Amino acid sequence: MEIRVFDTAEQVGQATAVLIASHLINKPESVLGLATGSSPIPTYQNLIAMNKSGAIDFSKCVTYNLDEYVGIPVDHECSYHRFMDEELFNHVNIRREAIHVPDGNAADMDAAAKAYDEAIVEAGNIDVQLLGIGHNGHIGFNEPGDKFVYGCHVVNLTKSTIEANTRFFDSEADVPRQAISLGIGSIMNAKQVLLIATGEGKAEAVRAAVQDDVNPACQASILRTHPNVVFLLDKAAASKL
Ligand code: GLP
Repeated sequence: MEIRVFDTAEQVGQATAVLIASHLINKPESVLGLATGSSPIPTYQNLIAMNKSGAIDFSKCVTYNLDEYVGIPVDHECSYHRFMDEELFNHVNIRREAIHVPDGNAADMDAAAKAYDEAIVEAGNIDVQLLGIGHNGHIGFNEPGDKFVYGCHVVNLTKSTIEANTRFFDSEADVPRQAISLGIGSIMNAKQVLLIATGEGKAEAVRAAVQDDVNPACQASILRTHPNVVFLLDKAAASKL
């Protein structure tokens, strides 16, 4: 694994955007695995700027997002569908039909999860997977546990994730208790994985992912077994390494 440390979160965003841009330039029809949360926002801002300047083109690419809450409308202010529209998709020349976000309102969630995995395989697997990391080491919504789950699945969110995500909702009671998340399999099948972590609050999760044994108690630790993974950190997130 490669670890790159930058002074600021803005520099992390620039460097991550350059790596994603290189996929789009070398392979315009790239399959991008995208993430929500505050960590990727500087990356998306840089990608938008590169698209507006004509440096990169989204018109042939396909995207699959990592996760979505279960049971909130797609136009809810906290839905990941809406986040992606506002933070990236509405500002670049991507085709609407090329955008995929897991369906948190499917009548049959297990069938929706299975279909999502199948669609990714059919698309040729993810070329570059962007990830944030939870304070508890989760990636996507793969929460700490006693195993790594391979496929896309419905997750019961942990107390710490509900607390961490309360900042986006009116109150803790409004945070959905479940989400649908890509499993570790599709993430590990990506040709390249880029994990962004910024801020001191992520330092312990980053340390556990990089230095502890590979262990489902820190889901991000599995990335150490990936052949092409880059951790892009600011100084604060790297402070416990
Ligand atoms: C959420 C998302 C993750 C994200 C994590 C960190 O729970 N499901 O994909 O990586 O939070 O979010 P942030 O970047 O806002 O700290």
